[in-house]
Amino acid sequence: MTMVAPGAPPPPVNLRRAAELPAGAAALSDALFAGEMVVYSGIAPFQALIKRARDVVEDVFGEDPQIAEQSLDPATFKKHASNARKQIVDHPHIHRLWVETLEEIGYEARTVRCDKMRLRIAPSSEAMRSRLIRPLPVHRDSWGSGIMCQINWWAPLYRLHETRTMLIWPEGFDQPIANTTEEWDYHTLLSGEIPDYPLLPRARAKPPGKPIAVMIGPGELLAFSAAHLHASATDRSGQTRFSLDTRSIWETDVWAGRGAPNVDSATPPHWDMFGRASIADPGNQEQTDSNTQGGSR
Ligand SMILES: [Fe+2]
Repeated sequence: MTMVAPGAPPPPVNLRRAAELPAGAAALSDALFAGEMVVYSGIAPFQALIKRARDVVEDVFGEDPQIAEQSLDPATFKKHASNARKQIVDHPHIHRLWVETLEEIGYEARTVRCDKMRLRIAPSSEAMRSRLIRPLPVHRDSWGSGIMCQINWWAPLYRLHETRTMLIWPEGFDQPIANTTEEWDYHTLLSGEIPDYPLLPRARAKPPGKPIAVMIGPGELLAFSAAHLHASATDRSGQTRFSLDTRSIWETDVWAGRGAPNVDSATPPHWDMFGRASIADPGNQEQTDSNTQGGSR
């Protein structure tokens, strides 16, 4: 696993392997809220989760989903994408495997509130894209949620390429950039009254420094603060990037007042994005629609 800047020597990166951290979820929080990015490898339930997700995607798109956009008409591609996304988000085995993954990482599952697992599809071709199936521009998830202790989790389903992955701007973690959080309204988004209302606040300026392209392998898992500036990278290869992402809040962080610095967001905390119940008891969750959750990557 490496992280490199496209076309340039890699900049200094606050990236760590999970094995380098002290044991326990508190150490992970401390690292992430200081701007580090942490990569987990070899977690058996997560590897099983990735296999399940690939099975779904390959059942829908065929043997090689990454090149399906080259042979499908846009309407069929979008229909398949929507179908695969729905199957993943509602998949009981994937949910169970994610709970087991969090426990392996060091959480007591009943103390974690979590978004569902989302399938992200970033097509190469403009024609294949839609509101929810597209590469995302530069943003912080915390601009949308207002929750500074939110942790983002991200993982590819297939091998990544430097031009088909997620970009993160490490220097933007604690540097403010102009954005639309003052005018963006979560409840307007939820109401659905304005067609194509932005899923998230957007940046009004270029992020500082050079981005790094996340280059982790299938079965590996990246954790990063929701306050990191990030975006999708796509290219003209005709290949689609498939990845999973979700978000979590650890109640212990909330009570301890831990979190990343808020350097530029006017968004108040929207705790309802994460429901009332813990991930261990998803039946009571009142989660919002996939349109509203983080809009990640
Ligand atoms: Fe995001």
